[in-house]
Parts: sequence; structure tokens; C-alpha cells
Amino acid sequence: MPIAGKFITFEGGEGAGKSTQLTRLAERLRAAGETVLSLREPGGTPFGEKMRDVLKQPGSAIQPAAEALLFASCRAQLVADVIAPALAAGKVVLCDRFIDSTVAYQSGGRGLDRALIESANRLACGSVLPDLTVLLDLDPTRGLGRASVRDQGQADRFEVLGAEFHRKVRELYHSLAKEEPGRFFVVDAARPAEAVEQEVWHEIARRFR
Ligand code: TMP
Repeated sequence: MPIAGKFITFEGGEGAGKSTQLTRLAERLRAAGETVLSLREPGGTPFGEKMRDVLKQPGSAIQPAAEALLFASCRAQLVADVIAPALAAGKVVLCDRFIDSTVAYQSGGRGLDRALIESANRLACGSVLPDLTVLLDLDPTRGLGRASVRDQGQADRFEVLGAEFHRKVRELYHSLAKEEPGRFFVVDAARPAEAVEQEVWHEIARRFR
């Protein structure tokens, strides 16, 4: 499968199973002989991991615009230091969240101007954009329930925002997927992880083979 140098992102609401699916796809790709780099946002650089703690801590009082710019600055660092060099070296890069998270959460959820968020994304990424974005679609009430079990009730700064915020996030994800059907692959994440894994693998093979 000629997939070297491809950039694949996973998106979705809380508890949709992104990290599980990313790990499973990475294993399958490695078994197929690919060199895979798995990343997450915010994170993936020393700067990004520090900011991740700040951004996720329930006590952090961060204004929506400051929050959006922090996510964008983590992304700028990750793209320049890690993603662009890895793609240039022929690695497959998998990233748990990327540009669409900022559009969905900071514009859809927080209500910031979408065009401004997209400008910040362009500043952060330049021409480094995903070849494929897997959107794990799940009812937010169900996703928040799963996340709560996973985190043993220790909700982070976004999980505490409630179902209405997360419903708006989901709506914006749906709009993005409709606007860019060539980049997005939408999967029903309510199904068992094995079925989702199989569907994602099938799509990767269909697109890149
Ligand atoms: P997660 O990686 O465990 O899902 O946590 C990251 C949290 O940060 C999640 O609630 C979504 C949120 N987030 C944004 O609001 N905007 C962004 O641009 C990114 C990357 C994440």
C-alpha cells in the first residue's frame, strides 16, 4: 500500500474512541511495513505537552480567544518540529485531533468567529494538511458517559462543559465533513471498536492502495 508520507488525523467528541482507533491503525500499518509516527494534540512537543496540562486543567481560567490561540500555537510548534520533517522522511503520521478540533470546539462550541479560527490554523500549518480525516461520530451524551468511566469521574475543562456545548461541537464536525467529503471519512463510533477498526482499515486500503 503506497501510504508513506501520508498524514491521517482522527477527530470527534469526547469518548468517541479516537486514541483506541489511532493505536489500532498504527499497529496495522506497522504490520504492513510502514514507519508510523503517532501524535496527539495538544501535545507531541515539550511545549505542547506543557500547554496540554494548562488547557485541560478544570481550574484554568482561560478566555476563549486565548484558548484558541494556545491550541494554534501548540499546532504551529508540532507541525514545524515534528510533522513536516516526518512526512518529508516518508513516515505515516497519525494525529489524535488537529485543525478541525479548533474549528469544532472554539468556533462551534465557544462561538468564536470561524474565519478567524481558520486563519490561525493556516498560520500554524501552512501547507501541511491531512490527506484523510477520520471523524468518529458519536452522540455526545454517550461519549461523555464513556469518557467519565475512562477518567473515573475526573472530568477535564472540556468534559465539564455539558451536553449542549458538545452538541454544538458535533454539529460543526458534521458541517466540516459535508464541506470536505474528499478529506473526511465519517464512522459511526457507537459500534464496537473492532467494527470501527475494520471500517477504517477498509477505507485506508480503498483510498491509498
Ligand atoms: P483529548 O485529546 O483527551 O480529547 O483532550 C483534548 C481536549 O482539548 C478535548 O476536550 C478537545 C479540546 N481541544 C480543543 O478544544 N481545541 C483543539 O484545537 C484541540 C486540539 C483540542
